Amino acid sequence: MRTQVAIIGAGPAGLVLSHLLHLRGIESVVVERRSREYVEKRVRAGVLEQGTVDLLRATGVSAGLDRDGLPHHGIELLFDGVSHRIPLTELSGGRSITIYGQQRVVSDLTEARLAAGGQLYFSADDVVVDPAVPRVTFMHEGQRVELDCDFIAGCDGFHGVCREVLPSATSYEREYPFAWLGILADVAPSNDELVYANTDRGFALLSLRSPTVSRLYLQVDPLEDLAAWSDDRVWDELHVRLAHSGWSLKEGPVLEKAITPMRSFVCEPMQHGRLFLAGDAAHIVPPTGAKGLNLAIHDVHVLAEAMGDWYDSGRSTGLDAYSATCLRRVWRVQHFSWWMTSMLHSFPGEDPFQQRLQRSQLEYVVSSSAAATKLAENYVGLPWT
Ligand code: APR
Ligand code: PHB
Repeated sequence: MRTQVAIIGAGPAGLVLSHLLHLRGIESVVVERRSREYVEKRVRAGVLEQGTVDLLRATGVSAGLDRDGLPHHGIELLFDGVSHRIPLTELSGGRSITIYGQQRVVSDLTEARLAAGGQLYFSADDVVVDPAVPRVTFMHEGQRVELDCDFIAGCDGFHGVCREVLPSATSYEREYPFAWLGILADVAPSNDELVYANTDRGFALLSLRSPTVSRLYLQVDPLEDLAAWSDDRVWDELHVRLAHSGWSLKEGPVLEKAITPMRSFVCEPMQHGRLFLAGDAAHIVPPTGAKGLNLAIHDVHVLAEAMGDWYDSGRSTGLDAYSATCLRRVWRVQHFSWWMTSMLHSFPGEDPFQQRLQRSQLEYVVSSSAAATKLAENYVGLPWT
């Protein structure tokens, strides 16, 4: 079998890339290890930057987003029991974020690709990529498939196979001494806007997925046993960490509960020969800035433009610059995500000096419009260049 671009992974990066290539008349085949049902049910992030929303709209895949997406114009930072609003839209020249679950993006895009005759292979086993040919081989429904192509796009997430075959890449990494315990709860959100809370018991976050479903997180030890966290214990801790005057947290049935480790990771360069990495395959950010999905979409936008240019005119300038172009934004977002994480979490064993620096940073962000603007413009997403 032959295609122009073999895409490994049907997460947001792989699916959006396949869609963007299709709009440029470039054929692709998406090869995904998991079943379609698994990929569409996986609960992940839910904050779309302005640039991500603009791209989904401009490329005709925003019907669900336009119907169910919830635009937000501010977030709250809670510390010392007092909540402070950061007016994102006011401080960022009218930009905003939209709450729309990642799995909704994934199912919208899967549907759009299938409706347009796109080739998606779910439940593919033993995926092997050979960037030298380039060729991808895999098992599908008991058959061995050989897929020859012009390019391979490694959109297979942090635990995928594509990064492994990139020779002489350098990794830059930070592990954090904490994780997030996240729940999805069948209850209307207790607040109109997201609340990021810094407390001496650790960080907490109130978020949402819809007018009737809340998403909440607690900072926990990375080795914490999920079984030690009954629903009651989770709610009790959320009550304590999110408490502030004139406000109360509504409880509801817990639909999902999981612990996610936190790390920062970048692989440089993001390309070798005809193999291009995009999204979590190339970089991971801690979730505090809500950036992982958005960064993945930016990568594939750059990649689709560069491939389009190559097919249209034979020019390889865009492809040659792919890694450097993406890495500029990757490092800006790495810094922002690390900064938000450092400002909001309790670091085990941190000394009183460190704690006072953190408090001063929080007070500065909520009292200086210059400092709040830095947060706002990064949070809604700096304009794409
Ligand atoms: N072969 C085929 N598919 C694979 C393989 C493999 N060897 N390994 C992993 N995959 C698939 C995964 O099952 C997953 O569906 O690749 C996909 C990668 O998708 P994501 O992990 O969602 O990564 P990405 O598309 O880059 O999305 C960006 O941002 O919000 C964050 O981490 C969150 O997933 C999100 C990411
Ligand atoms: C989420 O709703 O899942 C979410 C929101 C904000 C974050 C991270 C995750 O910073």
